Formats: sequence, structure tokens, C-alpha cells
Amino acid sequence: MRTQRDNGVGRPTAPTAHALGAHPGRQLPEKCVALTFDDGPTRYTAALLDILERSHTRATFFLIGPHARRHRADVLREYRDGDAIGDHTVTHPHLTLLPRSRIALQIDSAAQQIAWVTGPRPALFRPPFGASDARVQEVVGTARMAVVMWSPSPQDWKHHGPTSIDRAVLAPVQPGAIILLHDRYATTPPAVPRLIDVLRSRGYHLVTVPELFATSGGLRSGIVYHRGPSP
Ligand code: NI
Repeated sequence: MRTQRDNGVGRPTAPTAHALGAHPGRQLPEKCVALTFDDGPTRYTAALLDILERSHTRATFFLIGPHARRHRADVLREYRDGDAIGDHTVTHPHLTLLPRSRIALQIDSAAQQIAWVTGPRPALFRPPFGASDARVQEVVGTARMAVVMWSPSPQDWKHHGPTSIDRAVLAPVQPGAIILLHDRYATTPPAVPRLIDVLRSRGYHLVTVPELFATSGGLRSGIVYHRGPSP
């Protein structure tokens, strides 16, 4: 049986209006959070996408440009499944240490590499290490992307293993949280089913980052976001 995430179409199709968070006249549920996964795609991404599909969950992926080219099938699957896709540079540098021209190159080249796979250029950007300043914001704004950080909470790179990820991620979650995870670690996908179950049992709806902002006018280029709007 086909699920909502499996449209069975053999070529890229535009995500539905729902996936883009366009709900004219419709309120989002009160308690929403967005799961985000950085640094992929990697060899762990396909397993993660299986998990998301099984649990009817959409997420947001911040991709490294060359990884997107190397793992084209995973990126296409994310796109077709209605996951949101953002830019996470070419080589994952500390952008605040680079001259402006290099910042622009990192952002634009990765956007091109992603668009080479999916078609549209991403409208979301996440700076590696969360390292951003006024210059980075200005370049991201010029590239017509929003700067998407994350809510203070989970650190799956410090807490390897399902149980500790679970504890680190879940304890501080609040409505509107943007939850940072990585599909670069073998330990992250196995932790995700329980994460989803616990969040849902607490009444949270799992949405993409654009969906999180759908009822507040959407995300704006060059603006930094750490969490969704308060319900
Ligand atoms: Ni990263």
C-alpha cells in the first residue's frame, strides 16, 4: 500500500502545498515541533527515511552540497516525500572566519548542487556549527534564504546512543522547538522511532520548518530563527 510519503512517481514532483506549509486560513495545531537532520545525506540516510516513512513523519534536512550530488537518490526521496531541504554549505566551514566572497561561494555552490538534484534552490540555510554573524546573515539574505538555527536542547553529537539521545533531546522540548539531529551518525536513526513516539504521546505534531512558520507569515530571507512562533 502506498503511503503519503510514497507517491510512486518516477521523477521529481513539486511537494504539495501541504509540504510547503501553505495552509490558507488554516491554523496549525498548537503543539508543533520540527525535527531537523544535518550533514547528510550519508549511508545512514536511507534507513532514516524508511523510519520517517513508516511513522508518517516529515522532517527538514540541511544538506552538504557534494553529499547531495553523491547521494542523489536520497535527496530525491526526501524531496518527493515532502521533507523540507536546506543548504548546509559545501565543506562545512566556520563561515564567520571566511571573507565574504568565500561565504557566498559556500552557500551558492551548495544551493546549486542541491538544485541540480531537486530542481528548486533551497530557501533555508543552516550555518555549520551555528556560526553566524551579520556578514553571514547578509550573504544568506542575498541568496534569498532564511537562517535556521535550532532551539536550545538536543545534542546528538555529544550523546551517542539511543537512550542518551532520547534523554538529551526530549527533556527540554517545548512547543515550536526546532530539534537538531544529524543523519551523519549511525546512532541517530535508531533513536528516532522512540523520539517520534514520545513526542507524539506528549501531544506534539511533527512538522517541517516551513510548516512551523506557515501561520505566522512564513520565513523571511536573511532573518535568523531559533524556534517557531509561540502558539
Ligand atoms: Ni553540520
